[in-house]
This record gives sequence, C-alpha cells and structure tokens, in this order.
Amino acid sequence: MISFARGAPAPECLDAALLADCARSAIEGDPSVLAYGPGGGYGPLREWLGGRHGVDPARVIVTNGGLQGFVFYAEELLAERPGRVLVEAPTYDRPLKILARLDADVRPIAMDGEGLDPDALERELAAGETSFLYTIPTFQNPSGRTLSTERRRRVVELAAAHSVPVLEDDPYGLVRYEGEAPPSLHELEGGELVTYASSFSKTVAPGVRVGWFVAPAGLAARLEARAVSNYISPPFLTQATVHELIDRGAFEPKLERIKGLLRARRDAMLAALGASLEGEVSWSKPEGGYFLWLDELPVDADELLTRAEAAGGTFVKGADFFPGGEDGARSARLAFSYASPSEIGEGVSVLASLLR
Ligand SMILES: Cc1ncc(COP(=O)(O)O)c(C=O)c1O
Repeated sequence: MISFARGAPAPECLDAALLADCARSAIEGDPSVLAYGPGGGYGPLREWLGGRHGVDPARVIVTNGGLQGFVFYAEELLAERPGRVLVEAPTYDRPLKILARLDADVRPIAMDGEGLDPDALERELAAGETSFLYTIPTFQNPSGRTLSTERRRRVVELAAAHSVPVLEDDPYGLVRYEGEAPPSLHELEGGELVTYASSFSKTVAPGVRVGWFVAPAGLAARLEARAVSNYISPPFLTQATVHELIDRGAFEPKLERIKGLLRARRDAMLAALGASLEGEVSWSKPEGGYFLWLDELPVDADELLTRAEAAGGTFVKGADFFPGGEDGARSARLAFSYASPSEIGEGVSVLASLLR
C-alpha cells in the first residue's frame, strides 16, 4: 500500500540511535525526570521555549503533543467563553472530531490559495458570539496553504477589534523548503489574544509526544491545571530527551536532515502531478510542510479512494476536513511526507490512471 494518507515523517527521518543516546543522557544527567513534577512540563525545555518566543517560561505549557494541548485549550475556552468556534474550511480533521465531541458550534471560514479569507472571517465575527478562532496559518493541514503576511495582519486586527482569542497551530512552520517565513500571528499580535501552539512531532519524532503552547499568563495557568487534573504529571523523560537533543546542538542539524528528506518527496510529488495531471485537476504548491491539496477532481473523492485502495494506494478524502463533511467532495489531501520519492511517483501515476 502506498500511503498518501499518513501525515507522519518518513521512517528515515527518525534517528533512533540519536534519541536513545539523548534519553540515556537525560536520565543520567537529571534522574528527577523519572519522578512526578510540574504539570506545565520539563523546566529546562520550558525555559528554552520561553527564550525562543520571548516570553516568561511560565507561559509555556509543554503538552503530550499538540493535539492534547488542543483538547485542553478548547475545553478551557468553551467553558470560559461559550460561543461559536471558527475554523478554516478545510481544516485538520482531528480538532473537528474533538470539537464535535465537545458539542461546539463550529463555523467554517472559506479559504483560497492565500489561506483563510479575512472578509469571510469578518462576516462570521459580526454574526454572533465567538469562543475562539482555530487557524493553521503555515503549510496548513490539510491544504498545504500559507496565509500571506497581509492577511495575517488583517486576522490579527480583526481578532483585536472583536476581542476574540485565536489559537495559532503551527507544527509545520519550521519545515520550510524554500522562501521567507512570514511573521507568526503570535508575533504580530503580541500574545495577548493569540495562543501559539507547536510540536516536535514533525521535527523530531511523533512518538516523543512533545508539543507546546505559548499562552497568555492566566490561560497558561489554567491549561497547566487541566494537565495536572488529567495526567498528574507530564512524561518528563521524553521532554528531557528533546531538551537534551537541543542542548547538544543536534536539533538544527536534525531539522535540516528532515527538510532534505521531505523536500525530495515534495518535489517528487509536484513533478509527478505535473507530468500526469496538468490541466486536469489543480493542486497547491506548498513551500514546506507535509501535505498538498488536490482540487477540482473529475470524480468524487470517495469513489476515487475506493478505486485507489483496490489498486494499492491511499489518501484522505477532502470531505473529512470540513465541518459535518459538508464540502470537499471533489478534493483530497495528499501527504508527501511518508512514502519514498519512487513510491510517490508510482502512487501518483496510479491515481492519474484511475482518474482517466
Ligand atoms: C495542524 C496540526 N496540529 C496538531 C497536530 C498534532 O500533532 P501532535 O499531537 O503529534 O503534536 C497535527 C498532526 O498531524 C497537525 O497537523
């Protein structure tokens, strides 16, 4: 099975020996990582992240991956400010499932090639009470799109004008293959309304389960209390392992290595699509991240998926990324992060032949 469904790094990206060595050093260097401790995460990692974001480390909450933090954030915001949750359409499917479980009133905000449409956001903000906006502005999951700097400024202005909290989810921003990084919403806004979230899943390994949130002070304390009430104490061993990797100066080289491996996969997918489907369907051309978005398919994506699975390939159909599955019938998310470049070429030609 050639998988374009898995939003995971290719197996070659995971340095088992390096991480095993960092884990050993982490335990030997600080045996307290084997004990219970503060719910907000491993102190030295919080300090490093605080320095990177220019905030007091108390505002950094290290979570069991970004998704666990999303649950805490959504529960906290929905309790504090009941109202609609605004999301990009399409958006990452797991938060949609979490929001459905929390009975949230989820409203889709239209997107185009430049990311979410600020005019659509403005209309939705004027339409009723909003609990928060959830956005993935850089190399978005699922579309691979990046919000332009001009639109970032507008989103921040709109959030301020309506006093609406924003969750900026940015696990892919560091995985940039070319081009200039735009400023984060968090930087533009100053971190009063915008909470920034990211993760080491896409830059170190998903199995370490280390994500982080940079929140306003009061919210950070409440997120930490939620962490304590859910799991007493975070897994310091993996957090300290990541910190050891950083402390050794191994994070940047590892990131460069991952970028090299994934850039080749992104290039292979763009080349294969260009060679076999030019003019027949459209797709995004991300400068980084893990995904691209196929659009304007000539058949419904679920029909294509059934045929693809019978032929040994898989992807995620577009409808999974829209609230209630109400759009996206003719689109699909292709992850280029997991399959090898040659499998990517093969998988795209299978898709192209099924589309003819
Ligand atoms: C946009 C986005 N946010 C959060 C996550 C969750 O990552 P993790 O919980 O592994 O940190 C993912 C993973 O695919 C993602 O794409």
